[in-house]
Amino acid sequence: MKAHVGGETFAQASLLANLRSSVEPRNRPLSPKRPPTELAGLADLFPYYAGFSFEWARETLLSASGGLAGVVLDPWNGSGTTTLAAQMAGMPSVGVDLNPVANIVAHLRANIAPASLLTSPPNADICAEDDPLLAWFSPPTASRLRSWSSLATSSPQGVRALALVALFRVVRELTRSFQGSNPTWVRRTSPDRPQVAIESEELDALLLKEQRDISKRLESHMRVGVRPILVNSSAKALPIASDSIDLVLTSPPYLTRIDYAVAYARELAVLGTDILANRSLREHLMGTTLIRPVDARLGAIYGPTANQLVKAISEHQSKASRGYYLKQACQYLNDLVDSLDEISRVCKKGAVAIFVVQDSYYKDAPIRLADICEEEANLRGWTTTEKRPFEVSRTLTSLNKAAKLYPKGKVSETVLTLKRV
Ligand SMILES: C[S@@+](CC[C@H](N)C(=O)[O-])C[C@H]1O[C@@H](n2cnc3c(N)ncnc32)[C@H](O)[C@@H]1O
Repeated sequence: MKAHVGGETFAQASLLANLRSSVEPRNRPLSPKRPPTELAGLADLFPYYAGFSFEWARETLLSASGGLAGVVLDPWNGSGTTTLAAQMAGMPSVGVDLNPVANIVAHLRANIAPASLLTSPPNADICAEDDPLLAWFSPPTASRLRSWSSLATSSPQGVRALALVALFRVVRELTRSFQGSNPTWVRRTSPDRPQVAIESEELDALLLKEQRDISKRLESHMRVGVRPILVNSSAKALPIASDSIDLVLTSPPYLTRIDYAVAYARELAVLGTDILANRSLREHLMGTTLIRPVDARLGAIYGPTANQLVKAISEHQSKASRGYYLKQACQYLNDLVDSLDEISRVCKKGAVAIFVVQDSYYKDAPIRLADICEEEANLRGWTTTEKRPFEVSRTLTSLNKAAKLYPKGKVSETVLTLKRV
């Protein structure tokens, strides 16, 4: 499918003009980091790992659009913060993400019409022996959850998104004890961590209440504008026509070994995917810790900062640096440059791209991701118009005992603004 998005209507132009006038001038620039308590843009419906702030996205889109309701793209759209901000600003948008869980949340946030609630499915024992939900739930509970998810999946889009996000939230809550201090690592059933068992009636009541609560929350939030096009696809193969995008606002996965499939293993299990049995999704997510079958491009094909990183990792004295870690970093860099090629293809001349990227460390070697992205984009015909760093206080490295062994400096998140020449 190729997404074609139309131009600005009179209604959109006047909506944009109104919204623009509601952006207040600030003494200090707003940070892209999402405050944990953010309610704007329905961020609380399903706080997504590494999601950025809705307020920041809205203000950034409005000031970067230069008064025109051009077409917005987020190639790593996550929970749809960019696409919702574009929708609220009257701008047509396309959001792409490879993780189907992210797309469902983005769909729910973009719904304009109130969705009807899904009622309890009939009782049926439909849980297969290898159902991925059995990693956390007893067979009867997994079976009841499977009945709900099958009914939700076959429902129309609005009902589907509401019921599935309710399922995600309830499953998360019921398996809270499986979550460690690292938000992206989820344990599974083990002898000292038994499966969760809950009566079907109690589970049904929880799911109905959750749908009602979400629905109320949706009603309190006015959504207008052009509904975004949301696609479950890879940033490396954008299903979008060439020269069709005016503005990119995005945040790629960082080189911090975050495995989005593991982080959302329970929600993917609700959708019927077992990430341990089916490596495909996990393997193709950018930043994955799995190594795909040999990629011929191993280093020395990037700009100077990426090449320095490749050299630092391959010469590092620690175990597996020259093997596994070098392959993982090159796989990440290859995904990044392939995605930048695609983003460059779909953008018009004069398009603006705003990237939020976070630096990190490999052991004691800095990973200067902002510089890497800037150089790789410059090599592809983008010029830098602004590079603004924000200090980050808590990173995943600060949660990892082994990583703490190496001395490190402060880490920053950078908002990088580029223009396609
Ligand atoms: C930093 S998050 C984006 C968060 C988003 N800005 C928000 O506010 O929710 C990066 C996203 O990239 C997605 N992703 C990873 N590999 C991808 C790929 N190859 N193509 C498209 N999306 C991918 C992940 O699923 C994740 O949702």
